[in-house]
Amino acid sequence: MDPTAIGVIGLGTMGIGIVQVFASAGYQVLATDSQAPACASANHRLAAALASRVQAGKLTETDSIAILSRVRVVDGPARMAPVALAIEAVVEDLPVKRAIFSALERVIAPDSILASNTSSLPIAQMAEGLACPGRLVGLHFFNPAPAMKLVELVAHADTAPWVLPQVRALMKPVGKTLIDCPDRPGFIVNRCARPFYGEALALLEEGRSAAAMDAAMLAAGYRLGPFSLIDLVGADINLAATEGLNRAMGGHPRYHVFAALRAQAASGNLGRKTGKGFVFPDQPGSPPGDADAIVLRIEATLANEAAWLLAEGGTTREGIDTAMKLGLNLPRGPFECLEAQGTDRIIAELARLEGAAPAHLRGRYLPAPELVPA
Ligand SMILES: NC(=O)c1ccc[n+]([C@@H]2O[C@H](COP(=O)([O-])OP(=O)(O)OC[C@H]3O[C@@H](n4cnc5c(N)ncnc54)[C@H](O)[C@@H]3O)[C@@H](O)[C@H]2O)c1
Repeated sequence: MDPTAIGVIGLGTMGIGIVQVFASAGYQVLATDSQAPACASANHRLAAALASRVQAGKLTETDSIAILSRVRVVDGPARMAPVALAIEAVVEDLPVKRAIFSALERVIAPDSILASNTSSLPIAQMAEGLACPGRLVGLHFFNPAPAMKLVELVAHADTAPWVLPQVRALMKPVGKTLIDCPDRPGFIVNRCARPFYGEALALLEEGRSAAAMDAAMLAAGYRLGPFSLIDLVGADINLAATEGLNRAMGGHPRYHVFAALRAQAASGNLGRKTGKGFVFPDQPGSPPGDADAIVLRIEATLANEAAWLLAEGGTTREGIDTAMKLGLNLPRGPFECLEAQGTDRIIAELARLEGAAPAHLRGRYLPAPELVPA
């Protein structure tokens, strides 16, 4: 095994970014994709991404050439024998990912590590059927991988004890913030982010305007309001993530799929990519008179979701706060919101919301045991 070699399988949006991340950190990268055009264009796409960094003065021409020289496109996972870590970023499909790992484990060394960039598939299920399930982890990069500081590191119940320290050591030169995550649906960020959108959508269905809510959150220090964030990512992508989590969590009302989101996705006004979204291309405007109440309601549900996740184990308050700040660009994490608003106020707000909840949302606001004083 060559400790300076990394394998990347799947060279789409995430894969090519992950190639850039490891090659920029000095690793030799062996890259592959099942589609010939993706392989053929990989070097060109990487060169274009590096050229824009050179143009912006963030990278020298010499470094750019050196990074490109470290990347070699190869003919499939079978050519990845030397790698210390092989990370897949192929389509979100369990059998496809399993087939890749079983091809990889036939060629890589016994002390090499397998990793998945999945956003939503359970790592434990991916490990089932492997000869050495203990060396598989989740390494969840965020989009765009070169720019986003956060990587969620997901162990499953049978991850071998030597694996996590070895992953951390391999990731050190990469300079990302690695946060330990439980192997639970949505890991940390994609799960704890749900109320940021969901509670805003609940307010929208109660008759508030998207622009007013975004303005309220901006006034409280958020860089983007919930609707501008949906517009950035795309209502279709947000809907798919919400539906996925709703299914994975057995349809619990904390993961309710709001009709307003379905309608937005169905309308085709998906956000920036279609030129029109909930708010885009307009600006949010000035905050409404009850901006503080809107912020309290959204932050109460963010803190509650984080406290429910914390109770499930495998993470910490600090881990959740850091992941949410880096992954969602929030000015403060859910537990920092709890601290700033005060636990009593948050519990009172949750009780008020639960009391007023329509039948289909009943149970959505029940406080996590962690929040309630013994
Ligand atoms: N796009 C995001 O914002 C994002 C963020 C975090 C994680 N992810 C996860 O990363 C993974 C990839 O997502 P993406 O957005 O880059 O997808 P993408 O569609 O842009 O790219 C997927 C690539 O995988 C290739 N591929 C498909 N089957 C293959 C196989 N059997 N062997 C080799 N290559 C194969 C495809 O040809 C394609 O180039 C998914 O698991 C996704 O959930 C995506």
